[in-house]
Amino acid sequence: MAKILLVDDEITMVQMVCEVLRADGHEVFPFTSAHGVLEALTERHPDLVITDLYLDKTKAHGMEILQKARALNPPPACLMITGFGTVESAVEAMRLGAYDFLEKPFKLDELKLSIQRALNYTRTVAENTLLRRELKQRYGFHQIIGAAPPMQEVFRMIERVADTDATVLILGESGTGKELVARALHFNSRRQHAAFVPINCSALPENLLESELFGHRKGAFTGAINDKNGLFHEADGGTIFLDEIGSMPAQLQSRLLRVLQEREVRRVGDNVAVSVNVRVLAATNENLEKLVTEGKFREDLFYRLNVVPILMPSLRERAEDVPVLVAHFLRDKVHSRTGRPFQISRRALEALCRHNWPGNVRELENAIERASVLSESPLIKIRDLPPVVVQKIPTGEWDEPETALVAEFPQSSPGLIPGTATPQPDASPPKPGTAMPSHIVSLKRFIRDQENAYLNHVLKLTNQNKEEAARLLDISLATLYRKVAGEGE
Ligand SMILES: Nc1ncnc2c1ncn2[C@@H]1O[C@H](COP(=O)(O)OP(=O)(O)OP(=O)(O)O)[C@@H](O)[C@H]1O
Ligand SMILES: [Mg+2]
Repeated sequence: MAKILLVDDEITMVQMVCEVLRADGHEVFPFTSAHGVLEALTERHPDLVITDLYLDKTKAHGMEILQKARALNPPPACLMITGFGTVESAVEAMRLGAYDFLEKPFKLDELKLSIQRALNYTRTVAENTLLRRELKQRYGFHQIIGAAPPMQEVFRMIERVADTDATVLILGESGTGKELVARALHFNSRRQHAAFVPINCSALPENLLESELFGHRKGAFTGAINDKNGLFHEADGGTIFLDEIGSMPAQLQSRLLRVLQEREVRRVGDNVAVSVNVRVLAATNENLEKLVTEGKFREDLFYRLNVVPILMPSLRERAEDVPVLVAHFLRDKVHSRTGRPFQISRRALEALCRHNWPGNVRELENAIERASVLSESPLIKIRDLPPVVVQKIPTGEWDEPETALVAEFPQSSPGLIPGTATPQPDASPPKPGTAMPSHIVSLKRFIRDQENAYLNHVLKLTNQNKEEAARLLDISLATLYRKVAGEGE
């Protein structure tokens, strides 16, 4: 139920509305003049503000209350009430962020419906903000791990071009993080609030890809039973990511070139073109220049796309990053999924560093996931690694003592940009020598680990904002602090 601040100078009306809303389970703070309202706004931080526009019959205090309320973070939903409703004041109130406008006399049902809609609306906005924040964290730079010089170059480029409309061509072998970079570019640009639309150009046959990208009119071809917008329309205001661009058929290359030149899209079977505002990012693991010389890729399209090239290094070229990547996957992926901390033996880590990773980071990530599933203890050892990684190590050398072999990792996720790593409260892994003999832990320990993992997840979602986290988790701030400090109930 919601916290509602109610302001009206008609005492009977305040009393009646107050009663009705309380009966519905809301917490109501009633006011019959503007006096004290502004203080209450900041102190109570209501979810909803219902205010009369003309208080004390003269001045439009309601507008001031509305402005103050909308300036709060997060802003409550606002409903304006007036007895002298003019179109102008309604428009002005909506412009200042009021959700709805009610003219007196109104029916109670009308008011209730408006309240319900306003509360649903703010809830959705809040959820979207959280989601976006989560996406940003997931695809912001912080999740692209790499300290080696070629990765530093990649980060510099991302930083330079993210918040521009430049077309970027991301080149690199399979599994080197091209899509991750595309997402980082979008989520660090002013287009972040609009859609990021990825499409794999090699996944569809030519005619389907064409209608997918540009849309079609009803009846344009057999099976086109409705008008359909294409992905370029969907990405309007945002970013389209053309993955595996090297596989785009010749005829579509020409159409794409026209879209890039003219910034307008014509649906299949349509005579009219519609202008779109879309940023284009493309990626390929093929050698596009070679495809150009072989006549398989249009040279003019290549130059259009290759405005800013970003070259992703293979993992072989940055083998020094293997340990930080392993630490990242153990901590951020395996630990969040299983709720259990894992470590890796020094010899297993050495084997990972020696492997040449034809599948790049994706192959390494899979190897770690697999090992965490196979491993019988929280310590990953040589025998848990994929056969290709350990094939050169004689099986006689596979048995390792569990003690004194644990690779040391920093407690926090390794930040890629120096100084961005923030230590997180985390369940510390068992110390060397005390590693658990099997994967069975006590129920209490299991529940605590799960709870810790979830707390960390929510704290991360809220950017470590403990008040917001406590609210989302529906526990008191004090309880949250106790839990974060690792004290039991
Ligand atoms: N630098 C990195 N830091 C952390 N994770 C990474 C990094 N690079 C890649 N990954 C992870 O590896 C996997 C593959 O990355 P991604 O899909 O971006 O690669 P890709 O270059 O697009 O591959 P493909 O050419 O096969 O489509 C993903 O799970 C991604 O999260
Ligand atoms: Mg990809």
